[in-house]
Amino acid sequence: MYPDRVVSGMRPTGALHLGHYHGALKNWIKMQAEMPCLFFVADWHALTTNYDDPSTIEASTWDMLIDWLAAGVDPSEATLFIQSKVPEHAELHLLLSMATPLGWLERVPTYKDQIEKLSHKDLTTYGFLGYPLLMAADVLIYRATQVPVGEDQVPHVEITREIARRFNHLYGKEKGFEEKAQEAVKKLGSKRAKLYNELRTEFQQQGKEDALEQAKAMLDDAQNLSMIDRERLFGYLEGSRKLILVEPQARLTEASRLPGLDGQKMSKSYGNAIALREDKDSVTRKIRTMPTDPARVRRTDPGDPEKCPVWQLHKVYSDSATREWVVKGCTTAGIGCIECKQPVIDAVLKEQEPMRERAQQYLDDPSLVRAIIADGCDKARKLAQETMRDVREAMGLSYN
Ligand code: TRP
Ligand code: SF4
Repeated sequence: MYPDRVVSGMRPTGALHLGHYHGALKNWIKMQAEMPCLFFVADWHALTTNYDDPSTIEASTWDMLIDWLAAGVDPSEATLFIQSKVPEHAELHLLLSMATPLGWLERVPTYKDQIEKLSHKDLTTYGFLGYPLLMAADVLIYRATQVPVGEDQVPHVEITREIARRFNHLYGKEKGFEEKAQEAVKKLGSKRAKLYNELRTEFQQQGKEDALEQAKAMLDDAQNLSMIDRERLFGYLEGSRKLILVEPQARLTEASRLPGLDGQKMSKSYGNAIALREDKDSVTRKIRTMPTDPARVRRTDPGDPEKCPVWQLHKVYSDSATREWVVKGCTTAGIGCIECKQPVIDAVLKEQEPMRERAQQYLDDPSLVRAIIADGCDKARKLAQETMRDVREAMGLSYN
């Protein structure tokens, strides 16, 4: 019914690091070539936990956007925008909040978790409880079919699906829907109409998912249907409701295999990160001073790569010949650690080279980024307004 579309957001954390690149960003870059994508800075989301200090949001937003562009997110392929510049997200959030049971939000696994973890902050706020609902609005307002997220965010996509389902159930009623749907069935032509009815019965009475899929594929192919009839027929397949909001799928982003300099997860707050556009000298210095297998006190002491964080970087950056050279050299004390680190340094610098280059034009002329975002915000707002028109109408709010 609705075409494939990807929506994903990231909180403005400021300059990104290579862990972000090997996790989320590479995935975005892959998806932008495959289907329409909207990527946005979730600046309102930053307020759900940092409402007491909003002073860093602005600079973090622009820094992060430059990093996206530097990494290869391409504004000629994907739509880039800032959440707060599309206030329709807030309107949908408000309308959805009316029918969202508190229990759904309280049961989101990260809710109690985060309140405990961030106990130095008072997160017993309305905004923090409602944060998954804001995320649902971010996704539903674009009728996204796919949402690339990390594992921790999967429950949020799940609740998004539940909210869409509930919305369609509550507000997807249309006066005379049955009759109108049956009229639309006739317009399919007698052969297709017969097949449609059979598949619909199979799905509704026996729960056959493949019958549903087959019927949807048939509707996708049917040429002579108006948008509204098509929408009715999709809704009629699954029940007797119009589908106003779309249930999205979570597309799990593989966790980054790139650990930090100390072997722990790479994170700015652990002080073990390499920034995406960190300067060459600093990258070289950081890797040169990385801890290695503690057994290698002297150059002549053999080591074990499995006990060394440098080895984890080789696993990401080195080819098999280099890795063999490391294993042999390390376990026999044939190479020193500085020697062993050099191919990693070279590979990281090489990876960053095009990123630094791409970033430079935006640093030289910040108005380029502003223009990209202004354009992206316009495009996003148009799509959001289309959905909101339908939402308002369904909720009886389209009067003048
Ligand atoms: N909640 C996400 C995070 O903290 C960011 C986010 C906000 C998001 N809205 C979204 C991700 C919509 C995907 C889709 O990482
Ligand atoms: Fe680590 Fe390489 Fe030194 Fe072995 S030789 S301890 S793998 S840095």
